[in-house]
Amino acid sequence: MVQKVKPAEGKLGILVPGLGAVATTFIAGVEAVKKGLALPVGSLTQMGNIRIGKRTENRNPKINDFVPLAQLNDIVFGGWDIYEDNVYEAAMNAKVLESSLLAEIKTELSAIKPMKAVFDKSYVANLDGTNVKKEATKYDLALALMNDIESFKEANNCSRVVLVWCGSTEKYIETSDVHRTIESFEQGLKDNDANIAPSMIYAYAAIKLGVPFANGAPNLTCDIPALIDLAKETNTPIGGKDFKTGQTLMKTILAPGLHARALGVRGWFSTNILGNRDGYVLDNPENFKTKEVSKLSVLDEIFKPESSPELYGELYHKVRINYYPPHGDNKESWDNIDIFGWLGYSMQIKINFLCRDSILAAPIVLDLALFLDLAKRAEMDGIQEWLSFYFKSPQTLPELAPEHDIFKQLIKMQNTLRHMMGEDLITHLGLDYYQELVEAM
Ligand SMILES: NC(=O)c1ccc[n+]([C@@H]2O[C@H](COP(=O)([O-])OP(=O)(O)OC[C@H]3O[C@@H](n4cnc5c(N)ncnc54)[C@H](O)[C@@H]3O)[C@@H](O)[C@H]2O)c1
Repeated sequence: MVQKVKPAEGKLGILVPGLGAVATTFIAGVEAVKKGLALPVGSLTQMGNIRIGKRTENRNPKINDFVPLAQLNDIVFGGWDIYEDNVYEAAMNAKVLESSLLAEIKTELSAIKPMKAVFDKSYVANLDGTNVKKEATKYDLALALMNDIESFKEANNCSRVVLVWCGSTEKYIETSDVHRTIESFEQGLKDNDANIAPSMIYAYAAIKLGVPFANGAPNLTCDIPALIDLAKETNTPIGGKDFKTGQTLMKTILAPGLHARALGVRGWFSTNILGNRDGYVLDNPENFKTKEVSKLSVLDEIFKPESSPELYGELYHKVRINYYPPHGDNKESWDNIDIFGWLGYSMQIKINFLCRDSILAAPIVLDLALFLDLAKRAEMDGIQEWLSFYFKSPQTLPELAPEHDIFKQLIKMQNTLRHMMGEDLITHLGLDYYQELVEAM
């Protein structure tokens, strides 16, 4: 079945709740790329290729040339934050990008001023800000956000808008009654139910308007039945949770390789130090719990210990994050992996990744925004599982286990793009080549 994908005509507004390190590195990066100052490395929509047809056809276009994506020059940025700093000031404070680079795009960045945020300190205990909406109920706050989205769209002459949550990680909560149906959720908004987090109010506002929404943090946000149902009702693509960047990226690259070779794993100890504001927020145990749950889910799904108890049944997995200001955004992670091979003989792998958190996250924000906009134009709604590639804890329907193996995630994403454009899916079977080549000999 060939799906009709509407063209990317007009301007695309990318609205970001949370204009901190990740969001400002993303926005500044796109502006720098537009001026030819740097390359969008790490972004599949800008730099990735996709094979089309048979290997013998040698068709390997850029993804950007294969599917109709919004172009960087057609993007307009906006967002919300609890602090009043414009994007230039916030990027300077985040200290991810050099001041000399930011100086070249100062005019563009200074023009982006945060709208007043929907914030509740009980969800992020370590932060306090003044740029916050004061409406009496959560329902009124949602209406105010919808008004922000529509006013932004009109003022900037956008034909489409998407939202990507880049706000702080909220405290850990589980799905409860208020999250179960659209009706209970809307009633909860009106009753100021304590179980409705600020990020859910942004998600509700976007989804209600049919605006695609992605969640870059590990909070539940749009991963609750009420908002999944609302996304179907309003034909809105959604995705989450938690950008897959440093240590978990490495884990989902390495673990599938060990599993593929049927090597056993006894233990995987992961620790990190980071000193940015994200690290400060995660220093609070209630916020760390949200991140910990997201990071821990990965290995079980890849190793499936219930299917191979002799290889993975004893696996001890531990994740720590420590706030260490001197390192700023330059996170350092260590992994000690205790593996075993033939006849049970032990071996060890040590990884010391000196990464840059926001440098790894920024291209993910761009790709998610562009792909969700594409999904909307392809009339795909609800959870976009094909975007699991970008998430630590991919959102799926409750009855489906998420796929964490990055290579399977990539195949799924590429096949979804081929499917959208009416091209053959690629199974990598390849037997037909040998049949055809033998016949041609
Ligand atoms: N950098 C990474 O590699 C990475 C990876 C995965 C997930 N994340 C997540 O992405 C998010 C952003 O990370 P960051 O490093 O930019 O953090 P940050 O602390 O620099 O930025 C977060 C911003 O969100 C703002 N904020 C908090 N609550 C808000 C609300 N209710 N409304 C509007 N703004 C709000 C804060 O004021 C802050 O400016 C965090 O949740 C983080 O856990 C980051």
